[in-house]
Formats: sequence, structure tokens, C-alpha cells
Amino acid sequence: MILITGASGQLASLVVDRVREAGLSIETASRSPDADRPMNFDEPDTLDFAGISTLFLLSAGYAEDDVVIRRHGRVITAALRQGVKHVVYTSLSAASDHLGFALAHRWTERALIESGLTFTILRNGLYAELIGMLAAPRDGRITVPFGTAPIAAVARADLADAAFKVLSNPEAHAGVTYELSGVAPFSVPELAQRLDVSYESSSLQYERKRLSKLPLLPFQAPMLLSISSTAMAGFLNCGVSDLEKLVSKPRDALSVACDAARQHSS
Ligand SMILES: NC(=O)c1ccc[n+]([C@@H]2O[C@H](COP(=O)([O-])OP(=O)(O)OC[C@H]3O[C@@H](n4cnc5c(N)ncnc54)[C@H](OP(=O)(O)O)[C@@H]3O)[C@@H](O)[C@H]2O)c1
Repeated sequence: MILITGASGQLASLVVDRVREAGLSIETASRSPDADRPMNFDEPDTLDFAGISTLFLLSAGYAEDDVVIRRHGRVITAALRQGVKHVVYTSLSAASDHLGFALAHRWTERALIESGLTFTILRNGLYAELIGMLAAPRDGRITVPFGTAPIAAVARADLADAAFKVLSNPEAHAGVTYELSGVAPFSVPELAQRLDVSYESSSLQYERKRLSKLPLLPFQAPMLLSISSTAMAGFLNCGVSDLEKLVSKPRDALSVACDAARQHSS
């Protein structure tokens, strides 16, 4: 039996749809009471993996590093104790190493590898939807300080397709780490051109001030700012991607980002 955690989230719900459509036998776990197994990684008593051979461990949300590390550590310990064989983990691409939220992913990869569990690591690139949302035009122009370098963003739907491929035959992907950045990187100037708006990159200092005025949790501003710094320095264009090993025809990430940008423009 396969268990998919985080089943009500945007990525995991796409994975659930695909495996269900294919008729695979799965159960869902989520903080939502509608799940087959109501589960919250912050509540150790809910970590029920009885009868599960393959666990799709959806990285657990947006929080401080110590919180995420504690969540994932608990899951790995409970999975080991309860006889799970294989964990498929949604991590973050190597190109994202400079991002503020990469550390908890790298910690989890190491914990999984050292656990003795069979693992498959899906190192997801930044979502095209996220880049589009962050770069959404405000008053008809884009000002986010993302520089001009290409960003190897990837559609969530492609990452769900990749996860589905692995879950269809987990043994074939045992011990493999896949780099799943986008295969057609695009820059914010290209995004602006496609949206027919201007792009005037602001400074990191301006962006920091802007973020400080938004109703964000304390860890969120530095996390978001790290996306700007990394994009501006040109580190989000990854030369290596295994996406086409798992997804035959990746979607046009720029179009996906444009749709998200239109949806979030103000
Ligand atoms: N590649 C990227 O661009 C990128 C960017 C940001 C974050 N991420 C990571 O990718 C994950 C999936 O992205 P998404 O867009 O699908 O996120 P999302 O729609 O915001 O959903 C958050 C996910 O985290 C799970 N979660 C949160 N707190 C949890 C807890 N205490 N215990 C168990 N699960 C918990 C949620 O599960 P339930 O609500 O079902 O319980 C849900 O699946 C995120 O959680 C984050 O770790 C990736």
C-alpha cells in the first residue's frame, strides 16, 4: 500500500488525482479530517504507517527550519519503526541550495539516506506558479528584484507527473535522486514581455522594506528575500535536469508562470 502525505496540498493533491486515475491502490494522509489517515507531523500520535510499504513524504509546509526538521525526523523514525520499506521524498533542486528553505530539505535527504530505508528523492525545482505569483505585475509593472538571468522553474503538474511515474513502480527508482528543475528556463524580462508589461527590477533593500510592511510570519520575509537574491545572482538556472527521464513532454513553464502572474496581478 502507498500512503501520500500532505494530500490536501497543491502538489500532493495532483499526485493523488494521478494515482487514483491510474487505479493504483493508495491511501491519503493529511491534517484534513477527510483523509484516509488524519495526520499532522506536529502530533506524533497521528503518525500511523501500519500496512504501508511505500510512503510518499510531501515536505511539510512553510515553517522555521527547526520545525520542519522535527516534523520530517519524526516521520522517518515512525516509518522505520512501523515497517515502511520505501520513502519517496519531495526535496528541492540543487540549483536552489542558496535559498533560505533549502537547509531542511538537505537535512531530510541526509536523514533518509542514513536511516537505512529505501529512498527516492525528487529534488523539485522552484514552481513556475510561484515565480509567476512573486513576479505578478503591480500597477502594470513588474518590480520584483529577480535580475535578468534565466530561472529553471517547473510546473507543479510536471512534478506531479514525475511523482506519479515513480509511485507507479517504486522499486525501479530505489536509491535514485532526481533533479527536477525546468527544462526551458525563462527570465523575468521574458515573462514581462509575454505579459506586455514593463520590468523595472527594484533593489534588495527596497524589497526588504516592502516585505517588512506585509503581514508575514517572521521567517517568511528572509525566505522570500532569498529567492530574490538567488535569482538576481543567476543561481536559479540549473544546467542539469532529469525531468525528461520521468515526464515525456514537460509543460511550457513560462506559460504556466504567466497564468499565475495574471491571476495575482493587482
Ligand atoms: N519547489 C518549490 O517551488 C517550493 C516552494 C515552496 C515550498 N515547497 C515545498 O513543497 C511542498 C508542497 O508545495 P505545495 O505548493 O503543494 O504546498 P501547499 O499547497 O502550500 O501545501 C502545504 C503542504 O504541507 C503539508 N503540511 C503542512 N504542515 C504540515 C504538518 N504539520 N504535517 C503534515 N503535513 C503538513 C500540507 O499537508 P495537509 O494540508 O494535507 O495536511 C500540504 O500538503 C511545501 O509543503 C513545501 O515544503 C516547494
